[in-house]
Amino acid sequence: MKIIAPSLLACDFLNIESELKSLEGIEGLWLHLDIMDGHFVPNLTFGHPIVELIAKRTKIPLDAHFMVTNPEFYIDTFKDYKLTNFTFHLEASDNCLALVQKAKSFYPSVGISIKPNTPASALSLDLLKAVDLVLVMTVEPGFGGQKFMPDCAEKIGYLNDIRQRNNLKFQIQVDGGINNETAKTCLNYGVDNMVAGSHIFKQPSDLYQETINKLREV
Ligand code: DX5
Ligand code: ZN
Repeated sequence: MKIIAPSLLACDFLNIESELKSLEGIEGLWLHLDIMDGHFVPNLTFGHPIVELIAKRTKIPLDAHFMVTNPEFYIDTFKDYKLTNFTFHLEASDNCLALVQKAKSFYPSVGISIKPNTPASALSLDLLKAVDLVLVMTVEPGFGGQKFMPDCAEKIGYLNDIRQRNNLKFQIQVDGGINNETAKTCLNYGVDNMVAGSHIFKQPSDLYQETINKLREV
């Protein structure tokens, strides 16, 4: 089953606990947590104290997307909060391979993300062999509710091809502007895991399950 990762960035922040309850029990979910530092991207979200509370309140696997300038600091800071996946940006470090290897000792899955202007060819084969996930951004990171960039989605097809030719195992995740139509495009390119924020959370909570299920239909 394709994973859908609701992005908490678009939820009702004054009622995070009830939002978590509305998602609990829906199959095939990751909970996407956008961690921003106000420097790598021009926005700030939440840090480890909030993630610690969320981790105590939900059984949904936590998928943290670090849009930060210094990922190494976050590898250490978040290690006790039971994250299933730790993703940081290729653009944030000159030595991503070493950081991936370090993160692997704390997190079951480690991902690398590329911004819209970074070509998929910037991901070396050594890095693709080391990661568990590649996150293709289809909007400029920093804010929810932006328009999907179709050219970026082509990178999913390129990565799917490299993965098959080299018999690699990483998941391909997409993030930004996902709705029923753009999800279809990404599924056709071979995506495994789709982040969706505003498309899910703009619905009333009793429609979350139906909205999520629809995203998987090609
Ligand atoms: C943007 C974040 C996304 C965002 C997606 O920087 O990485 O996860 O929440 O929001 P939507 O689905 O509304 O584009
Ligand atoms: Zn994200």
